[in-house]
Amino acid sequence: SPFEEMSIPLFFGWFLLSVQEKVKCTSMDFLKTLDTLEIFKKHMTDFTDKPENEVDLEQYFKDKGVLHCTTKFCDYGKAKGAKEYAQNTAVKDFYGSTFELSLTALFVTPRTVGAKVSLTEEQLLLWPADAESSVPAAASLPLGSRAHITLGCAEGVEPVQTGLDLLDISILQHEGQKGEQVEMELGQLTYFGDGRWFLSLTEPIFVPACFSSFYM
Ligand code: A2P
Repeated sequence: SPFEEMSIPLFFGWFLLSVQEKVKCTSMDFLKTLDTLEIFKKHMTDFTDKPENEVDLEQYFKDKGVLHCTTKFCDYGKAKGAKEYAQNTAVKDFYGSTFELSLTALFVTPRTVGAKVSLTEEQLLLWPADAESSVPAAASLPLGSRAHITLGCAEGVEPVQTGLDLLDISILQHEGQKGEQVEMELGQLTYFGDGRWFLSLTEPIFVPACFSSFYM
């Protein structure tokens, strides 16, 4: 019936509780520091056609609203596998439950800025089997490799890009590419070329989050 169709949300995911502002601040601080580093300035043409100007990453990325880690994009039931996901036992059982997410890296590309989420075995029960394999080049990555929080997008870029950017970087890491490395206060920063920056956090950031869904 049309009423059943309506009960499937735009997406399911973990929504950060009480730490939204704190995580946004951490992200802003990272961007503020990154664009002042010599190694970033050296590769500034990845972000601008006018290298004589400085790049202000805090302005470059636009806020995308409430911080969350999408598990399944359902598009109100139109996305492939949406109905099956909504009816999954783990999804029903854990709906409304609180979890602790572990943010283990921050990453930046000319399109997006995000946080990598490292999922536990229990959290992986809520992770769709095709999240990685729907991107052919990423099919051999471990389940959960795409898990992330979108922290901002460049002008005209949709948030779906953040997960794709993370997969792109993860493929390079999986291949054993070392990139250019520098130490930052929060951890090791790696440049993988083409504007791809990855900060591996020495201490993960743990955040409380509620497994729920979004309709609007
Ligand atoms: P993300 O999870 O990277 O933030 P939108 O506002 O564009 O409709 O997207 C709503 C949410 O669903 C966003 O969080 C977005 O990206 C995610 N999303 C949008 N499209 C897809 C998709 N095709 N696959 C996975 N996630 C998606």
